[in-house]
Amino acid sequence: MSSLLSLHCRPAERPSFSIVARMVRVPINQTKAAVHRLLAVLLVAGLIGPSVVKGESPAAPEFLLTDTCPASFELHDGGCVLRSRYKAYRSLRDAGVGGLKTGVPPLREGFTPQQIDLGRYLFFDPVLSADGSVSCASCHDPAQGFADGRAQAIGIDGHTLPRSAPSLWNIGFFSTLLWDGSKNSLEEQMQGPLYSPLEMGNNPAQLLETLNGNDTYRALFEQAFGTDTIALDQVYTAVAAFEGSLISLNSRYDLYAHGYHAALSEEEIAGLNVFRSFVARCAECHTPPLFSNQQLAVVGVADSPGEIMDPGAEAITGDASQRGAFRVPSLRNITRTAPYMHRGQKSTLEDAARFYTGGRGHEVPEDESLMIHWHIWEPQLTDREIQLLATFMGALTDEAFMPQIPTAVPSGLPVTPARQFASGNDFGFGAQ
Ligand code: HEC
Ligand code: HEC
Repeated sequence: MSSLLSLHCRPAERPSFSIVARMVRVPINQTKAAVHRLLAVLLVAGLIGPSVVKGESPAAPEFLLTDTCPASFELHDGGCVLRSRYKAYRSLRDAGVGGLKTGVPPLREGFTPQQIDLGRYLFFDPVLSADGSVSCASCHDPAQGFADGRAQAIGIDGHTLPRSAPSLWNIGFFSTLLWDGSKNSLEEQMQGPLYSPLEMGNNPAQLLETLNGNDTYRALFEQAFGTDTIALDQVYTAVAAFEGSLISLNSRYDLYAHGYHAALSEEEIAGLNVFRSFVARCAECHTPPLFSNQQLAVVGVADSPGEIMDPGAEAITGDASQRGAFRVPSLRNITRTAPYMHRGQKSTLEDAARFYTGGRGHEVPEDESLMIHWHIWEPQLTDREIQLLATFMGALTDEAFMPQIPTAVPSGLPVTPARQFASGNDFGFGAQ
């Protein structure tokens, strides 16, 4: 019984990826009640909850990195490798624009459990910012689909960024990163926010000094990398390892794609059929299974009425044909990440879907010439079809492998407040 009590008195962390999270992959016919019963049994059996020495008074949190891979990963040659049915399917490159059984691109995987777990602490620790006020999770909040619910993100000292924070679910599959597609690796990308005066305001020297000056972090980096001083590359590797573990491929849509027809309602199937039709053409760019082909496309959403302020990829390449080009975003967990588009211009999924039927270039001001993508045309979708599209996009929800959000981080700084998280996928399973 002591371990049951310890759930309430222990100040420290529970293991990051609990046994409960592993259990949510059970088939759909399990009911929520059954899961709860199972939880109760596990609790009583003392399987959940760490053991502490009886009578120990609450002390400073201890940090120990887990030696277990995240849910849906398994240890292979010392590194965590994803298990997913999508790996058995042919890749997108082999199979055209993607039917239901299309494979996933290569994932950033093979990191050790300790590296992933260390990355989890770093991700939630505001110590990474210049003044200890902003963490990655400030803008990529797990409770909001690893986005922030804002049209434009807000960084250190209240600076407003030009663009909206994207979701990080499945980001380890992406090799074209950012709205303008300007980064190709997670390690390279994260140096943007870390050292941008608008985001986390830090610099490499200060970041290293802070981390090396923290005994807890030194011990954790030693567990993860076996060295006694912390190097920047290790910081980047650990955070990338954690990002690669954010997998969402178990939505009801996925069950349907793997062959379980009853996983989607008739309305959702009708929505999927509009989505992949050559009338609506959504799947040409939002290609399954990631619902992004990772290409740049000019769709022509105005930043504010009558204005294109954000040049998109043109600012990177100088190529005028890429003015207003953005990397096709994934639509996974899209119900969690309103408002939509690079600047949050569309507040609902219906608004976003309706944009595509407004007519080619209808938001583009007269003095602009954008090279709108050929798949953007005038499909003349009905209100009913718009609504079906939104309904279908809602079936892409799966947060079952939500990582454990730390209650404390090694710096001792407050973990960025996250809204109460309604976990699980939309089968109703609770995940821990
Ligand atoms: C101040 C808010 C803010 C903070 C802090 C922040 N990000 Fe972001 N993040 C954004 C915004 C906004 C974008 C999109 C920027 C763009 O495309 O120009 C983004 C984009 C990304 C992307 C690319 C996503 C995609 O779909 O291509 C990744 C990966 C990412 N951030 C990871 C991180 C990590 C890791 C940290 C912490 C080291 C972090 N971010 C800190 C706001 C933030
Ligand atoms: C030519 C490629 C293309 C086609 C076709 C396309 N999209 Fe998009 N989609 C994009 C791009 C690029 C963006 C980002 C645009 C921006 O931010 O300005 C986007 C953004 C979105 C978003 C917002 C995502 C987010 O995270 O903010 C939704 C929702 C969406 N599209 C749904 C659809 C639907 C529904 C269809 C079919 C009716 C469709 N798209 C067709 C390329 C495409």
